[in-house]
Amino acid sequence: MEVAHANRSAAGYFRSAPSGRVLARRSNVGAKLESLDPKERSVPLLAPSPIESERLLVRLVAESDLPALLEVNSSEEVTSLLPYATWASMADAQAWLKRMDSIQASGSGLQFAVVSKSSRLAIGTCLLFRFEEKSARAELGYVLGRAYWGHGLMHEALTALIECAFSSMSLRRLEAEVDTRNRSSARLLQRLGFMKEGLLRQRWIAKGEARDVEMYGLLRDEWPMPEGVAGGV
Ligand SMILES: CC(C)(COP(=O)(O)OP(=O)(O)OC[C@H]1O[C@@H](n2cnc3c(N)ncnc32)[C@H](O)[C@@H]1OP(=O)(O)O)[C@@H](O)C(=O)NCCC(=O)NCCS
Repeated sequence: MEVAHANRSAAGYFRSAPSGRVLARRSNVGAKLESLDPKERSVPLLAPSPIESERLLVRLVAESDLPALLEVNSSEEVTSLLPYATWASMADAQAWLKRMDSIQASGSGLQFAVVSKSSRLAIGTCLLFRFEEKSARAELGYVLGRAYWGHGLMHEALTALIECAFSSMSLRRLEAEVDTRNRSSARLLQRLGFMKEGLLRQRWIAKGEARDVEMYGLLRDEWPMPEGVAGGV
């Protein structure tokens, strides 16, 4: 799997490195961080966009993706077990993008589009959010258009993103919350190596009801990275 680093940064928070070298986030301790063993670093350092896999590109979301993402998120079947409302119009899509822009500007997350290489269309999204710098951890979210389920596509997208999260972004723990009824999402996480860590009762209020949620976690040390990739250097 090829991992390419684009020049676009997430609102200036992460600095990208076209060469693939790890650059420190804007900080006067940058030089010191670069000299540390990758496993000792505690901050994700650059936006890994675009990431390329066999069938997909995973890159930062753009306004031009919104019509395709409206198609994805306006399906009741797709969104029924998610903690947000089903989109009804382009106004919902625009409002979502505004929220994602503000999350990226705050440095607490990165929102990616999952793009089919054959059609060049956004067929879903995945994101890293609730980034906590001190603990080098973030939460993972994802959604795929109904027409694309069942072909291993989200597994492929998340494998690419997790690889980057644990290497060039230097995260050490990823978390995911899943509605207890969402068996396809739970299976996907388990196939990726996530461990079920607990039950969070009535964790979400979504679509007018309280939802029980399973918490999943994956540690960098548990992730099988190819030799020479660890730390992204
Ligand atoms: C959860 C979701 C992202 C899974 O997407 P997906 O692409 O179908 O999931 P995977 O990549 O794991 O694909 C695996 C499925 O494809 C099948 N498959 C077919 N070809 C495959 C291949 N080449 N490689 C792997 N799996 C393949 C598998 O058998 C598996 O089927 P199963 O789920 O019935 O066991 C999708 O159902 C979705 O968007 N749901 C709504 C939103 C949602 O719930 N998001 C998660 C919130 S926590």
